[in-house]
Amino acid sequence: MASPAFNRIMVTAALPYANGPVHLGHLAGAYLPADLFSRYQRMKGQDVVFVCGSDEMGVAIMVRARNEGIDPQDLVDRYHPMIEKAFAGFGMSFDHYGRTTSPVHAETSQDFFRTLARKDVFALKTEEQLYDPEAGIFLADRFVVGTCPTCGNENAYGDQCEKCGSTLSPKELINPRSTLSDATPELRETTHFYLPLGDFQDRLDQWIGTHPEWKPNVLGQVRSWLNDGLKDRAITRDVPWGVPVPKDVAEELGIDAEGKVIYVWFDAPIGYISDTKEWAMSQGDPDAWKPYWQADDTRLVHFIGKDNIVFHCLMFPAMLMAHGDYTLPENVPANEFLNIEGDKLSTSRNWAVWLHEYLEDFEPDLLRYALATMLPETKDADFNWSEFQTRINSELADVLGNFVNRTLTFAARFADGKVPELVDPSDADKAALEELATFPDRIGKAYDTYRNREAVFETMALARLGNKYFNDTEPWHTRKSDPQACANTIHVSLQICASLSVLMEPALPFSSARLRGMLNLEGVRASVPGGAAEGIGWDDAGKSLLQPGHALGEAGILFTKIEDDVMEEQKAKLGATPDGASDKDQPYEPVKDTIEYDDFAKLDFRMGTIVEAEEMPKSKKLVKTVVDLGFEKRQILAGIKEHFKPEELIGKRVAVVANLAPRKMMGTESQGMILMAEDREGALFLMNSGGENGSVIR
Ligand code: 2FM
Ligand code: ZN
Repeated sequence: MASPAFNRIMVTAALPYANGPVHLGHLAGAYLPADLFSRYQRMKGQDVVFVCGSDEMGVAIMVRARNEGIDPQDLVDRYHPMIEKAFAGFGMSFDHYGRTTSPVHAETSQDFFRTLARKDVFALKTEEQLYDPEAGIFLADRFVVGTCPTCGNENAYGDQCEKCGSTLSPKELINPRSTLSDATPELRETTHFYLPLGDFQDRLDQWIGTHPEWKPNVLGQVRSWLNDGLKDRAITRDVPWGVPVPKDVAEELGIDAEGKVIYVWFDAPIGYISDTKEWAMSQGDPDAWKPYWQADDTRLVHFIGKDNIVFHCLMFPAMLMAHGDYTLPENVPANEFLNIEGDKLSTSRNWAVWLHEYLEDFEPDLLRYALATMLPETKDADFNWSEFQTRINSELADVLGNFVNRTLTFAARFADGKVPELVDPSDADKAALEELATFPDRIGKAYDTYRNREAVFETMALARLGNKYFNDTEPWHTRKSDPQACANTIHVSLQICASLSVLMEPALPFSSARLRGMLNLEGVRASVPGGAAEGIGWDDAGKSLLQPGHALGEAGILFTKIEDDVMEEQKAKLGATPDGASDKDQPYEPVKDTIEYDDFAKLDFRMGTIVEAEEMPKSKKLVKTVVDLGFEKRQILAGIKEHFKPEELIGKRVAVVANLAPRKMMGTESQGMILMAEDREGALFLMNSGGENGSVIR
């Protein structure tokens, strides 16, 4: 299928909830990929609008505000500027960064809602919902937690289980409890608007079928949703914070809209449109947003993390289809999750790298580059500070920085700080220039198809080419033996530096600008809004950009190496609370209610030895073990995959509950339980002891 000709690109990056600062996981999931893409496309000469903004509605905001005893508005007023500043510090090249508490957004989402209501798209349902009698409020989404019916996670939210990714409705939770008062909810009747996603199933199915090129991780999730059959989704809530349901349509339908707001996952994606409208207004052309959202020749791309796939690939497209005036996304290149130092990112445990804190210690480009090499593009990936250090020291400093520095130093010393003429080039000179010409396409194709790791790898390959060429042509020898050969090496190396200063721009925008300063290279197109749209662009970077005789700027150090102790300081921050304390300062878990001796005597604890251990396929947590209890061997499943490698477990002594009724997990029987100690940081320890296998513990 020939790809349609697009005339403009609309880029969105997931709107972060303004209920806390942004961290590395955010950057890796949506923002860095979106920025790399937008900057590349601008350098390529495309017409790009890139928007984002703070997601300020929704129950997540209310829960956090309640916990702090403040107003939701005060909460978002604190975090919105903080998030915006961190993004600016990292060079996120948004055309506009908005917020969903803005009047434009309220109007835009209410208009959208109204249009769908008047087209008779919504279903209305009156039914019983969970209600907290103590707090006097219906328990939507995150106001209620309970056990996930799919994976057994005891802290699943009313709208989603963050462990297994299932979307839920509050009533599906087992043993629900209110997060506001801890009360057990009761059922009360209320009426809500529903988006009947099932009505869109065939159209969505057909549309997804036209995108076999989407990332397999995205298509996999989408297909599984479609196979399960799409269900109606309530898109209004009875909570005191959110975009109000428009009174006029509610009245037309005979509903009392008092106290009802639009569900955050209905209004948030419309936030992209509101942000684009605000951008258009800032350009003095209020209608300028329309072609970006409504013309067929617009390439609409949503950058998100994997927990947002269903909303961007099914729900929002269904809304856009229902409305009728909008174009559908051309791609939704969702990333998987990023772990840190081998452990799941957790804001409550402070197992996170906060972007505003990073910026106090390092240059943004270092993380942009290192993270781009580690992005979770196809599967979950791990960020660790040692690898960060290696990327900076062995690649940015040793390869790229070194090449630039030796080239400019040679030019200053032996070519009078000017670009020498290329005369009678050798085979090596010609080969280097020919290979240089292939790079814009190689790197560009990777960016255009969301393969950022490959794009930065290819960028570094150009610096490696430069270094190798410089070494092979040995200008420190030819300087005396063949001055023109030396001049040719300087000429070609400078052209590679100039090309690098363009091709590095998406990943290393701040360093690229510094490099252009050293080369005194002007007239390069901007990769950010508001800069020069004309000038030297991406495709020009395969050619010679510096004329003979051109006076160079002053050479400087592009990247400085990072010492080990600096990395140790960063590692020590993980898991530490802001005042420098660790999770170990959290209170101990309260002791459970007293039991009688007879209850205790029913439990049969034994010592055993793990003799076999392997990962359970398709399970994130489970390890399948065989434990030798002396009198018999037992197959026992343990949820410890994130803590132990199976091979480490073999031969370990363990305490086991030997008379626990067998139960099946993921279709496999577990015949007992391995006891473990869990400390306040969530670390697990096996309970080792002497005594032969089968010894009774009492
Ligand atoms: O998951 C989140 O953080 C949401 N705030 C993302 C919203 S994306 C969009 F639809 F606005
Ligand atoms: Zn679950």
